[in-house]
Amino acid sequence: MKTSEKPSILFVCLGNICRSPLVEAVARQRTAEAGLVLTLASCGTGNWHVGKGADPRMVRAAAEAGYDLAPHRARQARTADFEDFDWVLAMDQDNLETLEGMRRGRGVEPALFLPWAGVAAPEEFPDPYFGGMEGFHRAVALAEQGVDGLIARLSGR
Ligand code: 4NP
Repeated sequence: MKTSEKPSILFVCLGNICRSPLVEAVARQRTAEAGLVLTLASCGTGNWHVGKGADPRMVRAAAEAGYDLAPHRARQARTADFEDFDWVLAMDQDNLETLEGMRRGRGVEPALFLPWAGVAAPEEFPDPYFGGMEGFHRAVALAEQGVDGLIARLSGR
């Protein structure tokens, strides 16, 4: 365990304003309900949105499902993340390749979130950023599915 006594998970997407903050918020709520004590965080491989809140469309879709993204502020991935977290979980293959390039053989090996969580398909978490509201609602459902798999994995089920 890296940052603390608690198992720690870092969720990573491109901008850290849609997918990874959503997964972090869903995981925060559902793992607490499941009685798991974890350190959870998210970041992006890109730097465009650093310091900003989550995308308003993502905030709205998440709020409708009962998840609060209001406190989120975007940050960029850093090399220390591979030492600080037990798992570094990328939303898609591009994010994963960027992380692998940053890691340079040190610390934990990043993995793709959905397969890691035992979700059979899709392998990559679709990016809702350039689409309509329905993509954001689909993202919430997929985040819930992934987090349920994460809970099963960490509970040894
Ligand atoms: P995310 O979505 O990686 O799920 O946060 C995106 C956010 C911003 C951009 C792309 C994807 N962008 O190009 O600014």
